[in-house]
Amino acid sequence: MPLVEISEIHKRFGTVEVLKDVSLSLDKGEIVAVIGRSGSGKSTMLRCINALERVQAGRIVVDGIDVTAPDADLNRLRQRVGMVFQSYNLFPHLTVERNVMLALRLVRKLGEDAARDIARQMVAKVGLAEKLAAYPDELSGGQQQRVAIARSLAMQPTLMLFDEITSALDPELVGEVLRVLESVAQEGMTMMLVTHEMNFAKNVADRVIFMHEGRIHEDGPARETLLEPRTAELRSFLSAVLH
Ligand SMILES: Nc1ncnc2c1ncn2[C@@H]1O[C@H](COP(=O)(O)OP(=O)(O)OP(=O)(O)O)[C@@H](O)[C@H]1O
Ligand SMILES: [Mg+2]
Repeated sequence: MPLVEISEIHKRFGTVEVLKDVSLSLDKGEIVAVIGRSGSGKSTMLRCINALERVQAGRIVVDGIDVTAPDADLNRLRQRVGMVFQSYNLFPHLTVERNVMLALRLVRKLGEDAARDIARQMVAKVGLAEKLAAYPDELSGGQQQRVAIARSLAMQPTLMLFDEITSALDPELVGEVLRVLESVAQEGMTMMLVTHEMNFAKNVADRVIFMHEGRIHEDGPARETLLEPRTAELRSFLSAVLH
């Protein structure tokens, strides 16, 4: 059974149809890069998957939870689905360790020691063990983004969604965040990531989805799709981002 099953979803904002009959399924352990022009619906699709947006039609099932059911258990869903955005939104008055511990304490209701143990492991995993006691404003953007990833992983999600998490970073900080993503991918996490990093998509993703005007316009193996695009729209998108 696929981990994520999206069937014929439609999403409108007012009269603007942003997702037009989108269907896709994602297997456990798959790494999917989502690409496409600004406004093509990439973020909206991710936000529908963890019910930050509700769809007008269609169905989304994530890890056995029907996200689109009116009585969907959104707390349970959000414990299974981690999401990291472009802006990392760490709490400025909390240390790195406390930032990562917070949801473990409040949502998973772990005790202080158990939460601290997990937080330390996760912070070490993103290579920031020496920064546990630092506050967010003492870290670079890349380090803050790595803490945001650690905070999400600490909840032990079954699916991770990443929305352009390197887009706001200075170019020299992008690599360290991508390396963390790559190590998370190698551990078998199921991941869907919106990215403009085409080399990363080609080398790390199993699959690429190209969104165009609210539809999935191409969906295929990463290298093949990026190196031999089938449609004129993807060819033109790739020549615009690669030059
Ligand atoms: N809350 C909202 N209210 C109204 N319109 C919205 C809302 N969120 C998104 N839209 C519109 O939906 C369309 C798709 O937006 P979305 O953010 O999903 O695109 P995107 O592919 O992620 O673009 P980008 O690459 O710029 O992040 C756009 O036309 C956008 O203006
Ligand atoms: Mg977006």
